[in-house]
Amino acid sequence: VIKKILIWPHPDLKKKSAPVLPEEFGTAAFNNLILDMWETLYDVGGVGLSAIQIGVPKRVFIVDAGKSSSRKAPVRWVFINPVLSLKEETAPLNEGCLSLPGIVETVVRHTAVSVEAVDETGEAFAGDFVGLEGQCIQHEHDHLDGIAIPDRVDQEAYAKILKKLKAKS
Ligand code: NI
Repeated sequence: VIKKILIWPHPDLKKKSAPVLPEEFGTAAFNNLILDMWETLYDVGGVGLSAIQIGVPKRVFIVDAGKSSSRKAPVRWVFINPVLSLKEETAPLNEGCLSLPGIVETVVRHTAVSVEAVDETGEAFAGDFVGLEGQCIQHEHDHLDGIAIPDRVDQEAYAKILKKLKAKS
């Protein structure tokens, strides 16, 4: 089911999401959440989506960088209860967000990230990510902690975002 994506500054987007509990894996509600997230992401043609963006405050996000995947082929990543280890080096990158339609801002991100997480079957996995996947993982992980692009930019860029959103509404 395609869900409505919450638009910043919706108060839910500032919530800290809760870990997924072991007993939730395999339930219809949980499987449907993951399916709904994929349907919603592909409907809007995005690269990543966090559960809170469709109003579910759980530590789940999905990423599909398509041909920009750092793996040889596109991978549909599901990250549940992820823990990130960030490489020290950073770079300013252009970044958008499905909850901030039409807005692209420069955000400083780490150039590489290691992730330990659980997949949708409850299996633990780990991986190293760079490029678009690495950037997207950092962006989506921010959503789990109630952080969005406007919280990652300077005052001038923040004011620009508010002005653009106001002009659209
Ligand atoms: Ni976003």
